[in-house]
Parts: sequence; C-alpha cells; structure tokens
Amino acid sequence: MPRKTSIPTIPKQAEVLPVSADLMEARMRGYQARIEEVLAGALPSADLVPQRLHAAQRYSVLGGGKRLRPLLVYSTGEALGLPVATLDIPAAAVELIHAYSLVHDDLPAMDNDDLRRGQPTTHRAYDEATAILVGDALQVLAFSILAQERTDDLSVAARLKMIQILANASGTAGMAGGQALDLAAVGRRLNLQELEAMHRLKTGALIRASVLLAAACAPDLSVAEWGALDGYAQDIGLAFQIQDDILDIEGSTQDLGKTTGADAARAKPTYPSILGLESAKSRAQDLKRRACDRLSLFGGRAEVLIWLASYVVDRRV
Ligand code: IPE
Ligand code: IPE
Ligand code: MG
Ligand code: MG
Ligand code: MG
Repeated sequence: MPRKTSIPTIPKQAEVLPVSADLMEARMRGYQARIEEVLAGALPSADLVPQRLHAAQRYSVLGGGKRLRPLLVYSTGEALGLPVATLDIPAAAVELIHAYSLVHDDLPAMDNDDLRRGQPTTHRAYDEATAILVGDALQVLAFSILAQERTDDLSVAARLKMIQILANASGTAGMAGGQALDLAAVGRRLNLQELEAMHRLKTGALIRASVLLAAACAPDLSVAEWGALDGYAQDIGLAFQIQDDILDIEGSTQDLGKTTGADAARAKPTYPSILGLESAKSRAQDLKRRACDRLSLFGGRAEVLIWLASYVVDRRV
C-alpha cells in the first residue's frame, strides 16, 4: 500500500499580522498533532478481529487531511476558555463523521473517485464492501465517544446536547441530506438558492456542528454568544464549500491530494459553474467578512476564529 502524505501544515495568511501569524500556525499545528494522537487512540487496533476492517478504518482516518473540523472545535473552545482535554471528545467525534462521509463520497455509487488525501480511496485500497463498513463503523464510533469517553468536565446534559447536534448535522437535515441533493443535481442546472441549500447541508452542517459542539461544552454561554458563533459557523461552512468548488477548478491534483476537474467531468452544479469564478470568489470573501463581524461581541477572544475564517476562504489546499 502506498505511503500516506503527511498532514498539510497551515499556510501563511496574507490578512493576518505577521507577528501573530507564526504563533497561530504553531497553535494550529499543535492541535493537528493532538487530534492525530486522539484519533489513533480512539480507533480499534488493526490487530483485533476483524483486522481488515480495523486496518481500513485506520487507513481512512489517520495521517492526512487538514483537520479543519477539530481545529474549529479546539479554537471555539479556546475562545470560550474550555479545557482542551474536554474538547478532544467532540473534536474526534466530528472528524470521524467527516472521514466516514469522505469514504462514502468517493464510492463508485457516489463520486467514484480514486484519490483522497494523496492516496488511493478506501474502496480502491481495500474493496467497496469494506469501504461501506468503514463508514458504518466510523459513524457509530463518533457517537460512542460522545456518549462515554471519560472526562470530569462534561455533564450528561452537555453530552446529550452534543449527540443531538452531531446527529442533526450528519443526517437528512445535514450531511446525508446534502449528499442526496448533490447526487440528484448531477446534470441539472440548479438556481443559486438550491445550490446554496445543498452546500449548507452537505458541507456546512458539519462545519457548523464543529463550532456548536464546543459551544455546547460551555456551561454559561449567553443566547447572544451562541447566536454569534452559530452565524459565524454557518457563514464559514458555506464559504468552505465555495472554496472547495473553486479549488476543483484552480487547484492541482498533487497539492489537493484528490483529482481536480472532477466536478465539471461529472456535470455537478457548483458555485463557479452557476455564478462564474470571480463572483464565486467574491461571495466567499463576503461570507468571510460577515462571519468575522458576527464575532465582535467576543473581542480579542475571537482572534483564533477570525484567523480560521481566513484560512477557510484563502486556503489553496
Ligand atoms: C473535503 O473536505 C470534502 C468537503 C466537505 C468539501 P476537506 O477539504 O476538509 O478534506 P480533508 O479533511 O482536509 O481531507
Ligand atoms: C463532499 O463534497 C461533501 C461530503 C463528503 C459530505 P465533494 O464531493 O465536493 O468533496 P470532494 O471534493 O470529493 O472532497
Ligand atoms: Mg461529492
Ligand atoms: Mg467528492
Ligand atoms: Mg469537491
């Protein structure tokens, strides 16, 4: 089996002051390393029966990806002053759901892709049945972690709230529903409203959930603070998929670790295909600005979330 690419490090961002940019990148690299360790510990060992399924789960989750969703969990928690060990739980849960969604997204019945995170997709490295089971197993592992992973800082009420948030974001009102709309849209011309609704579900929902999962761990959050974080998360969630669509046109297969040009080849409606490339870019920039404005009530505490909004929209991988 080919070696995995290492986790891409966070690139420098033009809009962040140089002094804090290095610190911020170092902080993000720290979180990326942390979640790698947490996930490696949470996944079943490849020595345990059924070994092939466990090996495929580890192959699908470890050693690649930007880990944006865990970065959002940790950064929201940091802004709210929460203990990092508590945040490991939602960070791992949402990344497991994301990894499962990628394994299924790549299947022949969906996008039929051969390359993911710089290595063969799970159904290519193993087989289709194993890839389906990997998704099934990762999904329940996520909820099992939320329900029972040990920590003294989480109340039962907070755990239940997180299970509800992640279930909603993963199901037909979230990622799975968005994927259904995506598949139904192949070869059709959606209007902007339909496209946006699809993007908000298929990608936006899990990104929104990443922020809300951390917020759910904060015992004393005001309604206004919750609303501001929710608005921020929805805006960057949509902007993230717009940038994903843009990179499918402008990025390279080597940099992205997945085959570019795939949306056009499969006649998928995307932001650039409907609005044009330049309007898609300015829509993403508008969403970034609005997302950051929403955080004004947090003052300096939101610095890390503002940096991440830039990362989401200005990233090249
Ligand atoms: C790719 O997500 C799939 C979408 C939801 C658009 P990411 O770009 O976050 O993928 P990884 O985790 O970094 O590989
Ligand atoms: C995938 O969207 C969204 C989910 C996996 C839920 P895409 O199909 O655009 O993602 P990539 O481009 O294959 O990563
Ligand atoms: Mg897809
Ligand atoms: Mg895809
Ligand atoms: Mg894409």
